[in-house]
Formats: sequence, structure tokens, C-alpha cells
Amino acid sequence: MTQFGHFDDASREYVITRPDTPWPWINYLGTRDFFSLISNTAGGYCFCRDAKFRRILRYRYNGVPMDAGGRYFYIKDGDTVWNPGWKPCKTPLDAYECRHGMGYTRIIGEKGGLRAEVLFFVPPDARCEIHRVKLTNTGKNRKSFQLYSFVEWCLWNASTDMENFQRNLSTGEVEIEPDALYHKTEYRERRDHYAFYGVNRPYDGFDTDRETFMGMYNGFEAPQQVLAGTSGNTVAHGWSPIASHRFDLELEPGASEELIFVLGYVKNPQEAKFTAPGVINKAQARKLLQVYGSPAGADMAFATLKSYWDDILSRFTVASVVPELDRTVNIWNQYQCMITFFFSRSASYFESGIGRGMGFRDSNQDLAGIVHLIPERARQRILDIAATQFPDGGCYHQYQPLTKRGNNDIGGGFNDDPLWLIFGTVAYIKETGDFGILHEPVPFDNKPGTEESLLEHLKISFAHVTDNLGPHGLPLIGRADWNDCLNLNCFSDNPDESFQTTENKTEGSKAESLMIAGLFVAEGKDFAELLSHPAVAADPKYVAKVRSAVSAMEAAVKAHGWDGEWFLRAYGYYGDKIGSNENEEGKIFIESQGWCTMARIGAEEGLCDKALDAAVKHLECEHGLVLNAPAYTRYIKDYGEISSYPQGYKENAGIFCHNNPWVIIGEAMAGRADDVWRHYCKITPAFTKDQALRKVEPYVFCQMVAGRDAARPGEGKNSWLTGTAAWTWKCVSEFILGIKPQYDGLLIEPCIPVAYGTYKVRRRFREAEYELNIHCTGRGGKQFIPYKPGRQTIEIEL
Ligand code: BGC
Ligand code: NOJ
Repeated sequence: MTQFGHFDDASREYVITRPDTPWPWINYLGTRDFFSLISNTAGGYCFCRDAKFRRILRYRYNGVPMDAGGRYFYIKDGDTVWNPGWKPCKTPLDAYECRHGMGYTRIIGEKGGLRAEVLFFVPPDARCEIHRVKLTNTGKNRKSFQLYSFVEWCLWNASTDMENFQRNLSTGEVEIEPDALYHKTEYRERRDHYAFYGVNRPYDGFDTDRETFMGMYNGFEAPQQVLAGTSGNTVAHGWSPIASHRFDLELEPGASEELIFVLGYVKNPQEAKFTAPGVINKAQARKLLQVYGSPAGADMAFATLKSYWDDILSRFTVASVVPELDRTVNIWNQYQCMITFFFSRSASYFESGIGRGMGFRDSNQDLAGIVHLIPERARQRILDIAATQFPDGGCYHQYQPLTKRGNNDIGGGFNDDPLWLIFGTVAYIKETGDFGILHEPVPFDNKPGTEESLLEHLKISFAHVTDNLGPHGLPLIGRADWNDCLNLNCFSDNPDESFQTTENKTEGSKAESLMIAGLFVAEGKDFAELLSHPAVAADPKYVAKVRSAVSAMEAAVKAHGWDGEWFLRAYGYYGDKIGSNENEEGKIFIESQGWCTMARIGAEEGLCDKALDAAVKHLECEHGLVLNAPAYTRYIKDYGEISSYPQGYKENAGIFCHNNPWVIIGEAMAGRADDVWRHYCKITPAFTKDQALRKVEPYVFCQMVAGRDAARPGEGKNSWLTGTAAWTWKCVSEFILGIKPQYDGLLIEPCIPVAYGTYKVRRRFREAEYELNIHCTGRGGKQFIPYKPGRQTIEIEL
């Protein structure tokens, strides 16, 4: 089996050992405003705050070859031109390695006695990427060669950059300075930001005009200036501005030389935009170049980055007998949770950075993965999300990170959305004990003057469900529930319409969702518990109302949502059953099995065990649990996008990893440790054997792995930005290892096979640091540890 890399746990790195991975294997840089995507061959792009509106580097999705555009270094050594990351020239290298670490990527290439090592990172809280290039003569002879840098600027709006050529090809402007090449397109008018690419060594030539650098008909793999060993020293006017420096270098055998490049973004105050007519104010750029453009500055920034991640990843660690479990928990799952929190579903190699902003339901779920890591940022996120809600509890489905304003660009009217605000807030308060957040004033639809407390927002979120019940007393689905593709009110027969945004016929619809019903019961119970806590002490009459709405929903599910062996999925527009044994296809769905068993609906009557058995029997395959079975084999207008996907992909019987943990948590609540472990191992990338089949990064979870009906079952897609990160984290930390944050302490309640059941967890919790030595005997049970600040070591046998 071809292997493309391996884990290096001690360094918290994934080491890629050959550049021709089956798909670009990427990493993310940045922690706050300035973010970058970088592949194992240095492809990718960066942006400041918003991947759509403040795109700094141009990137070509859908390009041929794949992954075109990035930060490329070219080395011209005699007649050979090569890149340390292999691409774009693809000159065979004598040695190659890429190490993706926590917020940095190091690419090493060696060719003909010259070694180039490039470290890419974004210093915490700075608006720049650092490219630290170290060149070493590993041969026996003195070497004369040239190094070229190369980036291509995006004209800021990543969407119009790909569309409006009649304008774009005339707007490009740059400035050339000895310390940096500046990109200032549209700065003359309304923009107050520019970008620059600087370096700490005088350059011997440069280019800012792409055509001169590349040649009109050449690709990235054959820039005419590099092939000739020259530079055009061009000043771009319109067309496609780039930044490339050339250095003529010499190295004695054994000698090294280091260059530090800073690729940055600057925003100036309106009144201080220019230093002379048309000349941009470069003071902030110079500051960045001064701070980071020296070995000492770069060292310091890298050390700060390291300690940022050391601190983050020291908050929850496990030492068990399963290395795959340890590296998932201690490193990659938490790292992915941070990345999904930063990016929501906006920018990856599957998300263009243009289509989607911060999802209402997505970002709320992401909180579950990071409340223990960056609670203060979780707090702000909750308030930002809540501020996009409407007075009736409904919400925009997403908001743009730059403005924090909601929009309907990817649809609206999803009736599960409001409940996720309760989910996110409960997760935050259980972790932090910060009940004060409930009293924060939060506007509706960001309109000043409309503020109500966050607690009020939660109440109207809850009421949005009870105000929108269908004929069976179950929640009306609206445009869709968590499954964006189960479009029961859409009826689209026009291929030019998007299933997600086209007009819905909700008026008169009987479409009800068992997924929302389960979510409502689970979150309703959580909500009632929160309201009854002495720190909240809500009006007991209101709490009783919440509880009775929850009981009524449980009763409705038992009466109308049970299909005999499993929970139904939904009722359609006409009141027809979906996810029933009566259906020919789509007889059983995962979401309602997950949510109704997590909500423990009908547990005493044995419904949960039956539903879980049915999930194992009908949904489980070699690589995980598929979303529905049997898959839909044709388009069904009444169901919408779900049936638009070929069998085994995405929402049509793909292994949608996001919802596997729902069943796994349901299994854990039912105490079925063997099932829990088996399902968990199937979707967790660290257990991947066949890297070529998996195709995407073996260090992060995918949104979807092709299901058993697909052409290549087990093939992963849509890696990185997925609710799978937060849900598998919740699943493994709270339900497998069993460390459950509660309002007043930690509840320890593991569900893990005895063979793996002896482990140590270090867990920071508020002002406490617990060392928990857990020994599971198979007996089961739980133990509550009341919160007490300080260091504590506790032995637990269950
Ligand atoms: C995808 C869903 C996604 C939705 C977002 C659909 O095409 O299948 O997974 O949630 O788009 O708008
Ligand atoms: C991906 C979306 O980001 C998420 O919001 C949705 O719930 C799932 N797809 C399922 O459709």
C-alpha cells in the first residue's frame, strides 16, 4: 500500500514524504484575523478576516492541474529550475518533506547539492505570513544560483476577481520599494487596505507584471524570466499584478543563507492613507517588516506561535494504550476544532471562500469543540451569532465575518437553526460557569435599539419550535433541518434553481422533522436544567412550561415518530412518511436515530436500543454509518437535493461523518461500549490504513466519506471544515473518555471497551487542573467531581 506520510506525535506534526499526494494535503495558518491555506506543495492563498471580501492571494479553484497558485519559490541552478515543494515545476527532487504542524508548515526540498527549507507561518495576532527560506550548499563545490519568490495578487473581492474582467484588467496598481513590492489596487478610491511582499535582503531584480514574468502562454511551471535567469523589473499597470523578487546567490560548500519574507496586509485610517498624492502610507508595513524580517524577530514570532499552541493543547490531554486515540485527542481533533471555529465552512479546498460565511447552525456546533480552549472567543461568537436572529426566533442561515451581518445567500428558514443557539450557549456555560452571558443585551438582526438579553434569545429560540408544530405535534421542517438536502417543500424541476435558495412552499405544508423533534427534546432538557440552576433561577412557571413542551414532544415522537423498528425521519409535504419501512428507498435515516437516542426518547420502552440496533443493521458499513438506506436511485422532486446525489455520496447514503457521532453518543448513553468503539474507529482518520483510497488528509476528519453504494467506498471528501470536528470531539471527550463538564463540576462517565479503559486525562477546567486516573472495569457507572480550583489528582474506578 502506498504511504504518503506519517504522524510525528512528539513534534505534533504530520510528515508528508512524497509531494504527489492523492489530493493536495493542506494546513491552515493564522489564529485571529489573517488566515492562510497552504498545501504540501505550497499552494493556497491567504486573506484578512473574510475569504470573500479581503482575499490577498489569487487562487484558482477547479484549475488544471489541481492546486494552482500559492507562494512559490523557484531555484535556478545552472539549467535546472526546481521548487522546494516540487510544484509547480515538478522537477524530480533528491529529497522532499513537508511537515504540517500547529499553525505552520515546513517544506524541505533538495536538488543537486542544494537544500531549501521553507518555513511558513502566521504569527499570532499579526496580519502577515512569514516565509523563512534557508538555503544550504550540501555539495562539494561552490554554488552560484538564483532564487525567485512569486505570489499573485487577488484584486481583493475573490468573487468579482473571477468574473469582472472588463474592469479588473485595468485596475491593478503597485508600488516598488527596496524593502517590498506593494499591491495597492483600488486603494486610490474606497479601499483603505493594501498588501505587500517584503524581504530582509536587497533583491537583484523583481517583477510585478505577470505577463512579463511568466510569458503570455506559459504556466506557473515555466516562468520565462526564471528560465532565462533574468527579471523584467516591471511595474504592473492593470492586467495581473504579482510580486516576485530575484536574488543572485553564491554559497560555499556547507554554507547556508537565510532570507525572511513577510507577506502582509495593512489597513490604514482614512485620514492617513497617503504620504504624498497617490503614494500609500507604508508605515505599518515597515513596522511589520522590521518586527518579523530578521532571524531574531522570526524566531521570536515562531516561539510565540509554539507557545500559543502548547497552551491550547495542554488543556485536555489523554494518555491511553491506543496511540491513534491519543494523537487524535491530544493533537489533531482539537486542532481541527480550532480551525473549524475560525473558518466555519468558508474556505478550504472544497469551499471556495466565496459561497459561505459563518453558518448559524455550523458555528454554534463548532463551539462544542473549542469552549474549553478559547472560552473568551466562544463568548463573543455566541453574542455575534445571536445578534443575527430575528425577533420571532428564526435566523439568517449565515453571516459574513467582515460585517457580522446575516444574509440569505445560502437560504433561510431552516427550522433547526434556533435550537443550536441553546446548544452552543449550554456548552459554553457548562465549561466556563459564566452565567453572566445570559444577561448580555443582544439585538435582533443587528438593529440597534432592539436589544434583549441572550436569555430572551434562547427563550424565543425554544418558542420558535413550539410556535411551528405540524399536524402530529412534531416540528415543522421549514426549508430543511440539519440535513440541508432533505427539501420537502421545494419541488424544484428547474436545474437553474438552487435547492438551497429557491422559493419554498411552506404555506400549508405538513412536512415535519423527527430530527428537530429529537434535537428539541435533548436541548429542551438542557435548557430546563440551565433555567433551574440557582445561578439563573428562572420563573418556575416558565420552566414548567419548557418541561411540559418537552414531554409533549416525547409523546408525539412515540405516537407518530416510531416506525416499529426505528425512528421515522420525517413527514413530507402531504403528510407522507419518510424514513419508514413502508418506503421503497430511504427506509431508515441516521439523523433521527442519533437525535432521538441522544434525547433518550422511549428509552424505558426499549425504543433507543431498537433504533440503535437498526442503525447497526441497516446503516453500518466498512467505513462508517451511511446517512440513509437504501440510497435513492432516482431524483424525487418531493425530496429535493438529497435525491440529486448519486448513490453513496453526500446526503444520499454517503458516510456523513458529522452525524456518526450522534449515533455513537446514543450508543454511549445506552452503555454499548463495543459499538461505540467500532463506530468511532471507522470514521477517525488516525486509524486509516489505505491512504490512497482515503485520498484526502489522513490527519483530519472529512465531512463525507463515500458510502457502500458509491464507486469507491471509503474515499474521503470535504476534509477540514465540518461539524464532524466538534461532534467527534464531544463524542470522544465526553462520551468515550467520559469527561462531561457540568455547571458545578465534572461528571466522569466513560463508555469504552475494558481493553482500552485504563487511561489518564489531564483536564483544565476553569481555575482547576485535574489529573484523572481512570480505570474502567466494565462495571459502568459515573462519578461526580465538584468543581474546586487548584491542582487535583483523582483516582476513578468505574
Ligand atoms: C450540500 C450540503 C450543504 C449545503 C449548504 C448542499 O449542496 O449537500 O451538505 O449543507 O449545500 O448550502
Ligand atoms: C453541511 C452544512 O455545513 C451543514 O450546515 C449541514 O447541516 C450539513 N451539510 C448537512 O446537510
